[in-house]
Amino acid sequence: MHINELTAEDRPPAGASGLAGVVVADTRLSHVDGERGQLLIAGARAEELALSDPGHFETVVERLLELGTGRPEVRVRERLAQARVAAFARLEPLRYALSLSDPMDALLAASAQGSAGGEALGVLGALPVYVAAGARLRAGQHPIAPDATRFAAEDFMRMLGLAESPARARALDAYLVTVSDHGLNASTFAARVVASTGSDVMPCIAAGLGALKGPLHGGAPGPVLDMLDATASTEPSAWLEGELAAGRRIMGMGHRIYRVRDPRAFVFERALARLAGEEPENSAIGGRLAHARRVEHAAQVLLSARHPDRPLCANVEFYTALLLEAVGIPRALFTATFAVGRAAGWLAHIEEQRRTGRLIRPAARYVGQVPD
Ligand code: COA
Repeated sequence: MHINELTAEDRPPAGASGLAGVVVADTRLSHVDGERGQLLIAGARAEELALSDPGHFETVVERLLELGTGRPEVRVRERLAQARVAAFARLEPLRYALSLSDPMDALLAASAQGSAGGEALGVLGALPVYVAAGARLRAGQHPIAPDATRFAAEDFMRMLGLAESPARARALDAYLVTVSDHGLNASTFAARVVASTGSDVMPCIAAGLGALKGPLHGGAPGPVLDMLDATASTEPSAWLEGELAAGRRIMGMGHRIYRVRDPRAFVFERALARLAGEEPENSAIGGRLAHARRVEHAAQVLLSARHPDRPLCANVEFYTALLLEAVGIPRALFTATFAVGRAAGWLAHIEEQRRTGRLIRPAARYVGQVPD
């Protein structure tokens, strides 16, 4: 019998569509419990890692890489700082790549050109330098050199030309730690697939960057802020209904794994509340937060009416938008900033995948024509 003569019942099940629920790797790096809304990163609760004092990005990088490589990682802070300095020293030939109008395209092109052959921490340290330098060049400004005495989050803000603020740097640290890893999300899977072929670090990171750019993955927080702006002086439900009626998705809502509110949304709300407390003169944060909660509630009511059997709650991107805005990161750089944090997880997964020595090569169900 030819395959095109098979009935739908005879064919292998298509339940693996989008690989939902398919386990393709063992990992020690992070665990997502979608039913209970819990996230473990490197064996610790995400909120404890992110909101502890001092919860620096370097700490989670060290823990993830130790687990990924299976050996102790030493002098991570120093090596990341040196990597920033080294990347800055190599910026000149990357000016064209860095000036590409889309920050994610610029990050991808500059990383590929500037970090090829680099070791893991070298690539990780280079990313914030490329993001910041690209933003400055696109604005017609000179890139700002890194300061190796700083932690990664505060140095990233400095390189962007943002005002010094320990409170905001702490909020950015909380963000970077929280997004550092999240199970086998699309970009991490992409990075692991490339790592499984035996390729070197940079192409794996490029695969992660490419996947992260998409609005269904890391490209949502910019549109979330657009939504908050659009509903600022109107009734959110009417605006949201218009979006759904036009066949568009509500950005920042829904998740492949979570059936409850994304735990990272809680972490970011707490980080925002902490920042608002530390900057009482900045009333915009509290106002924005209250408005975001109203929009989230309205979206959830509408979505649960449309999909009573499929809980669609706020995901990480919803409050990412607010947190990064409060820190002062320009909207166009939200996804690239996500990449700066998530690259920690990519690197650890790349190492973990390499240690398996196993090529990832799934199968497809052929539904095309067969010649007679
Ligand atoms: N707005 C409106 N409808 C949504 C929705 C959203 N944000 N998310 C899911 N849905 C709907 C889908 O249209 C689908 O409806 P249908 O069954 O009538 O076709 C149903 O809910 C199930 O969606 P599905 O695409 O199967 O879910 P998924 O697990 O593949 O998608 C996301 C997960 C994240 C891609 C999806 O929720 C989404 O697109 N969210 C908006 C983008 C976003 O915030 N991305 C960041 C993710 S962290």
